[in-house]
Amino acid sequence: MQEQTETLFDTQFEEEVHIGLTDYPKHLSSKYFYDEKGDKLFQDIMNMPEYYLTDAEFDILSTHTDEITRLFSKDEKHFNLIELGAGDGKKTKILLQNLIDNKIDFNYLPIDISQHVLDQLSRSLKIEIPEVVVETQQGTYFEALNEIASLTNDKKIILFLGSNIGNLLHLQAIEFLSQVQKLMGDDDLFFVGFDQKKDPQTILDAYNDQTGITAAFNKNILARINSELGGNFDLDKFLHWEVYDPETGTAKSYLVSKEQQSVTVAKLGLKINFAPWETIHTEISQKYDHRTIEWLAEKSDLQIVTQFTDSKNQYKNYVFRTV
Ligand SMILES: C[S@@+](CC[C@H](N)C(=O)[O-])C[C@H]1O[C@@H](n2cnc3c(N)ncnc32)[C@H](O)[C@@H]1O
Repeated sequence: MQEQTETLFDTQFEEEVHIGLTDYPKHLSSKYFYDEKGDKLFQDIMNMPEYYLTDAEFDILSTHTDEITRLFSKDEKHFNLIELGAGDGKKTKILLQNLIDNKIDFNYLPIDISQHVLDQLSRSLKIEIPEVVVETQQGTYFEALNEIASLTNDKKIILFLGSNIGNLLHLQAIEFLSQVQKLMGDDDLFFVGFDQKKDPQTILDAYNDQTGITAAFNKNILARINSELGGNFDLDKFLHWEVYDPETGTAKSYLVSKEQQSVTVAKLGLKINFAPWETIHTEISQKYDHRTIEWLAEKSDLQIVTQFTDSKNQYKNYVFRTV
């Protein structure tokens, strides 16, 4: 039973935390992992040997850069390169550099929920590839889609890298892909990274490293509730727990309460009770096979133009256009 004295929400974060912590079973959205500390933790994750996803997509983008540049620019029309959940743009910079080297006419519009990571990206681009015309936009994917709708006259290449799509369950992914499809014109392309089904142990290791970086990343959502909403979560009283179902391809991250405890979140006027071993579900990291991606595309009125695979067959980037 939860006790509640006040429900007035100033932000989407407040509202979603309130809903998630008063629900049963409890849940919080992984999009709230990312603040300055979360951005740094995710960059540390990308550098971990266990987190094969970054190397695999880096491999694809480095190996096929020229081909991708030709695909994006073959009609020689100016385009907006829109990136959803751009992060630090480490891999995107391979493409940006190649587009600049080939004197392609484009603007880069990275979108991310974290203003901190967007600032970092702009600063680094100014130094590393100053020729890129960049305009950042802070917001969620769904807010971004409304913004993209206002750019309908320009050709659009939409990037969705890092298996960001894997944070959505299939039905949410279809809804999301359909929303993007509705904004796409005949010339537009949608370039999406899909992590592939593989040895389940490899997947579990990627989300459960021995050094505890992923655990700290998962718990950062509680740290944010503490610092931004006046919470008093004791992070040591929660366990990071990862599961992977090789049949559905769904990896899930949880925070598990190690004991019976009560936590208050002052800004929400909330007292939350946890039974021993009660869970908070925090993240989905969906893994795919070709059949599933074909099904997602068909349901979203998208057509597969081509696909690229890394040298270890762990990860794929698909290019879609509207049917
Ligand atoms: C897994 S990281 C991937 C970053 C980058 N695409 C890459 O491949 O390295 C996810 C990024 O998307 C952002 N993000 C997560 N959920 C989001 C959402 N719902 N709307 C907008 N940005 C989001 C995070 O802030 C983070 O920078």
